[in-house]
Amino acid sequence: MSNIVLTNTCNLKCPYCFANEFVNRSNSEISFENYLKAKDFLTKYGEKAIGLIGGEPLLHSRFEDIVRDVIYDSRIEKCTIYTNGINCDKYLDVFSNSKIRFLVNCNSPEDIGHRNYKKLCDNLDEMVLKRYMGNRMSLGINMYKEDANYDYIIDLLKRYNFRHLRISITVPNNDSEKNFNSVEYFRKMKPSVVAFFHALDDRGIIPHYDCNKMPSCVLTDEERQFMKHLFDKIPPEMRRKDEDVDTVRCRPVIDILQDLTAIRCFGLSEISKIPISDFENAKDLHEYYLREFDAYVHNTASCKECAGCSNRKVAKCTGGCLSYKINDINEMRKKSDSLISAHLEG
Ligand SMILES: C[S@@+](CC[C@H](N)C(=O)[O-])C[C@H]1O[C@@H](n2cnc3c(N)ncnc32)[C@H](O)[C@@H]1O
Repeated sequence: MSNIVLTNTCNLKCPYCFANEFVNRSNSEISFENYLKAKDFLTKYGEKAIGLIGGEPLLHSRFEDIVRDVIYDSRIEKCTIYTNGINCDKYLDVFSNSKIRFLVNCNSPEDIGHRNYKKLCDNLDEMVLKRYMGNRMSLGINMYKEDANYDYIIDLLKRYNFRHLRISITVPNNDSEKNFNSVEYFRKMKPSVVAFFHALDDRGIIPHYDCNKMPSCVLTDEERQFMKHLFDKIPPEMRRKDEDVDTVRCRPVIDILQDLTAIRCFGLSEISKIPISDFENAKDLHEYYLREFDAYVHNTASCKECAGCSNRKVAKCTGGCLSYKINDINEMRKKSDSLISAHLEG
């Protein structure tokens, strides 16, 4: 599923946000006309699911019109709204349609302030407990520091009787963190991730990785067995094809921006921008990103351990997000371009 970026405006300033190249930098929002073009492009190849993202997508001045358009569009079976949940009360009527799904990014009260957190909780109460929308909703968190307290999310999951949690170990959101030894980063994050996963498991909650799964090389045998035990609990239809506990892959998402350029994902936004008009449909664009970016990732290594690792050699592990290797990937793209130019000249 690919996404349309409705607006750069956000009501929060999440410290970890990887969309910070765009968010709140300008007030730009997608015009309704460009939204329609982006939707046509994404659905042309028969894709039946789209995502609406931002910024905070609910802050688009015509958000309700856009959701109504999605509801009336028979090509779309499922539309996921990425939201921080704070403004959901304004759109409960359109949200009652069963096509609409929610990925609610639940930030801690410390990060967003107690007033915003209360609004998030009131909205979840309304949507889950009063309007029974829980079966169309996933809660997610972003693990971005080693000493975070996750009690709040466990309380929310228990309150709404949710059995799954979407997790991202946050990917770099500034240049200094890119082209970085990802293994070192995962080692630093590991104690808090493992402790949190135990706390979830004790309560019967299954964590699912979204971005930046931890490579198993940083785990002890015992920790790997524990991760395998959690992985085995994920229903097969929720797992990616060919995935097992040791697989770490990072695939193109495709986010379409307001000016109808696309990016592979927010992590690679600065080097992957390209007009969608260069492509017939989203499938071709996806193939382009695979060739132009993903194809190089296993031929680079962010540290000695990755260099010698068999999971890299058999293309099973990227070592986390591609943006850790952004400079190497770019270098290899340039070399490939110069080889092609040499053939053209020769
Ligand atoms: C950029 S936000 C925009 C939508 C909405 N405002 C929200 O908070 O969900 C979209 C998604 O990006 C994810 N995200 C943001 N920063 C991230 C990072 N550094 N690493 C991984 N995921 C991140 C969040 O979990 C969220 O689901």
